[in-house]
Amino acid sequence: MEQLTSSQLREKWKSFWMSKNHAYLPEASLIADKESTALFNVAGMQQLIPYLAGKEHPLGHRLFNIQKCVRTVDIDEVGDTFHLTFFDMMGNWSLWEYFKEEAIQWSYEFLVNELWFDSRKLAVTVFEGNSDAPRDEVAAAAWQKAGIPAERISFLPEKHNWWSPGPVWPCGPDTEIFYWVWNSEFPPEGSNVKDDEDNWMEIWNNVFMEFYRDEKWVFTKLSQHNVDTGMWFERMCRVLQNKASIYETDLFAPFISLLEKTTNLSYTWNERKFRIVADHLRTVFMLINDWLTPSNVGAGYVLRMIIRRCYYNLLLLRKLNESELSSFVNDSFISFKWLRDFDEERIKKVLLNEISQFEKTIHKWEWILEDLLKNSKKLSWEQIFMLYDTYGFPLEITKEIAAERGVELDLEWYQKALEDAKEKSRQSTKAMFQKSADWSKYLEGIPATEFVWYDNLNFEWSKLLKEIEADDGQRVLIFDKTPFYPEMWWQNWDKWEIILDDGRCVHIINVQKVAWVILHFVG
Ligand code: SER
Repeated sequence: MEQLTSSQLREKWKSFWMSKNHAYLPEASLIADKESTALFNVAGMQQLIPYLAGKEHPLGHRLFNIQKCVRTVDIDEVGDTFHLTFFDMMGNWSLWEYFKEEAIQWSYEFLVNELWFDSRKLAVTVFEGNSDAPRDEVAAAAWQKAGIPAERISFLPEKHNWWSPGPVWPCGPDTEIFYWVWNSEFPPEGSNVKDDEDNWMEIWNNVFMEFYRDEKWVFTKLSQHNVDTGMWFERMCRVLQNKASIYETDLFAPFISLLEKTTNLSYTWNERKFRIVADHLRTVFMLINDWLTPSNVGAGYVLRMIIRRCYYNLLLLRKLNESELSSFVNDSFISFKWLRDFDEERIKKVLLNEISQFEKTIHKWEWILEDLLKNSKKLSWEQIFMLYDTYGFPLEITKEIAAERGVELDLEWYQKALEDAKEKSRQSTKAMFQKSADWSKYLEGIPATEFVWYDNLNFEWSKLLKEIEADDGQRVLIFDKTPFYPEMWWQNWDKWEIILDDGRCVHIINVQKVAWVILHFVG
């Protein structure tokens, strides 16, 4: 395989799809529009949702682009060799045009003929089937025809090979393409993703979107079939440049050198912290560039958390004084210059202002920890959970502080509690949607909830339209306007408090959209 720079990869992507008569789809903003239930642009297909459902696209039926995306679902994994919160996604789409055979054939052709991938290092997964859709023999046969042997094709369940941008929306089975990343040159005979997942890295996903799940969890076949693909640009650069992680590619190398120079520390001994600062700072630049500001709600809240985590990890490497910090931010712009045109002055102002506010919070945290550790050198999982849930301490920060002070953490139970909480939230989202036929009986005569874009969670301007006590005792409030986004699978709400006109204080534990109405579940 030839080594390619990141800009050569971009060029190859463009010329390949243009040669297949695809039109270039202009990139969407990272900040999802106000009607959307997502906080960020999480995939190339997000702007195409109405067109995947049948609306005629002005650019035609074959499209491609490179789309900036932010996903925070794996934020705790950032620091390893390939997870990122901001990434560029290369995508091609067929809207009621070509389908599985052609999409698979072209994916193979791009990898093997254009990028000179060794096909012996490729493996794929396809959908094994369930009661909604059949086992994807068509995709498996297309892969074999293209050149992937049967032993490298794994049939996997919905959890792995079904893709949807959220609980409601177009969806379908997918086929994922993996590259061999273990240190032996070639995978051993018989190795495939199903049995040897850790040694294969996913590089490209082809989704065959031909279904739609609506607010009532009703599943229907779309009037047209579509192909929606997404390839992680950074992961491809890692493979093409033959690096052990994406942070060693030409995308991050200038920033990593800058951080070494600024902190006077070596990347090799501080990989995880360097990577977190690098990933998070890039995401922060991109989000503020797209006009997001830190706040206590929705996307702004996520931005605030990313800035905090970034700054805290920088602090653990070295405390910079005001002027050092200011020139570090300037130099960071230069090291990421290739990424996009940054509005540098504005980004810097927003970022440094947020950091100075965060400095005050750090003092408060230290004080809280001091108190918890008065009588013990160990934090129980309940205390760690409370630090996270009530005071917003990212686990990472608790870990770093604990390591510095020789405090023991009961992490095994903490992880379990967190997984349980996540699973419960996933299940309850699903159950709630399944029950939404029941919710609709409460919604008669209620107008569509207006979503408002406040900087604070302020309900002063909202009118409580209805208070429901459901059959299972769950209380739900409906307002005419709300600053809350409905929950998505990858963006769970923290708990929020609101004071109602009659003086009652309620905690919002979940926010869901059913039909046109936003429901606030209170605890
Ligand atoms: N939408 C799919 C994904 O994000 C394919 O692009 O993985």
